Formats: sequence, structure tokens, C-alpha cells
Amino acid sequence: MKFFIDTAEIAEIEKWAPTGFLDGVTTNPSLIKKSGRDMIEVITQICEITNTPVSAEVAALDYGGMLKEAEVLKKIAPNVCIKLPTTMAGLHACSTLTKQGVNTNLTLCFSANQALLVAKAGATYVSPFIGRLDDINLDGMQLIEDIRTIYDNYGFETQILAASIRTPNHVSDAALAGADVATIPASTLEKLVHHPLTDKGLEGFVKDWASTGQSIL
Ligand code: E4P
Repeated sequence: MKFFIDTAEIAEIEKWAPTGFLDGVTTNPSLIKKSGRDMIEVITQICEITNTPVSAEVAALDYGGMLKEAEVLKKIAPNVCIKLPTTMAGLHACSTLTKQGVNTNLTLCFSANQALLVAKAGATYVSPFIGRLDDINLDGMQLIEDIRTIYDNYGFETQILAASIRTPNHVSDAALAGADVATIPASTLEKLVHHPLTDKGLEGFVKDWASTGQSIL
């Protein structure tokens, strides 16, 4: 399973890029707003740090506008992945960009039928939003499972990118459900490594090792 970081904060990307866990970056208009920075500058800077896929989202809602914005975004760097909303215009733009060999990420996917259309449009990634479904008492993880089944039934190559992840359990459950990628906020990435028994066990080993008086070096 690939790990993308869901952020427009340069410091977070710089922290995770050298760890070997970072397989890509996703941004969206809300994350750009939160960064307080110019979108083109941020995406350019992210692409200077990593050559992994970096999702940059169009703002236009119409087909022609999406394609014009995609032209600008894809010129930033070869690893820019054009993020489009799962609407009729977004799907149409996806089909066109796919024919041009451009990588795409279809965002705001909330149903299996939307995911089916995304795969038929030839998208590189589909982004089902787990957390936002859970927020309204629906089952985000069931959607990942359903999309996995449908894509496997037909051999669709679109990768399932579990998005709107809020907890460490979302990450492991998405892995169990067969998601290809999880895009994870930095705060949740930090939590994945922690286990109280690891901390307790290490404390005991450190104490016992010190009492042996030995040194490996
Ligand atoms: C990533 O591609 C999505 O835009 C992001 O995961 C949405 O997360 P949110 O529902 O927490 O805003």
C-alpha cells in the first residue's frame, strides 16, 4: 500500500520525504487556503522536494475551464497529477486528459457508481472520502470494499486512493479492504508507529542493557 501525505504544508513534506514512507502528496483548495500561500508556488515547491505524484486540484467547474487549468498545472512538473471533481465535467476532462497520457485523480467520490464511471474514464486514481461518509453516519470503509470488488471484477487499473482519513484505524482498515493508496494527514501518520507495549518493552531493554555494562561499538 502506498502512503501519500494529505497536506500543503512544506515543513510536513520535508519531514516525511526522507523517511522512505512518502509515495506521493495530495492537496485540495481547502489545504491551499489553510497554508495561506499561492497555489502555483506551493505545488512548485512540493515538486522540488519530491518526484512522487503530487495531486493539484482544478478550481473550474466546467470542462473547458478544467482543461485550461490542467494545462497550467501540468507544466509545473512531470509528477503533477491533475485532480478533478467527480462530476460529469470532471469525468469528461478525465477522459480527455487520459487520452493525452496525463495522470488524474478524481476526487469527492462518494458512491460505487461514481467510482465505476471514474474507472471507465481511465483515471489514474479514484479518491473515495471515508471520513466524510462516516461523518454522516454512513460506512466509508464499505465503499472502499465495494470499489475493490467492482474494479477486480472488471480488471480496472484505476488505483483506489482512500481519502478523508481521520484515524490510524482508517489506514489499517483501508489496507485490509485492498485500497492501493491512503492519503494521510501528518498528524495521523505520526500516530501509526505508536504502541504503548513498544514503549514499555523498549524501556525495559534499555534498563537491562545498561545493567550489563556492555557496548556494541
Ligand atoms: C485528499 O485528496 C482529500 O482532499 C482529503 O483527504 C479530504 O479530507 P477531509 O475530508 O478531511 O477534508
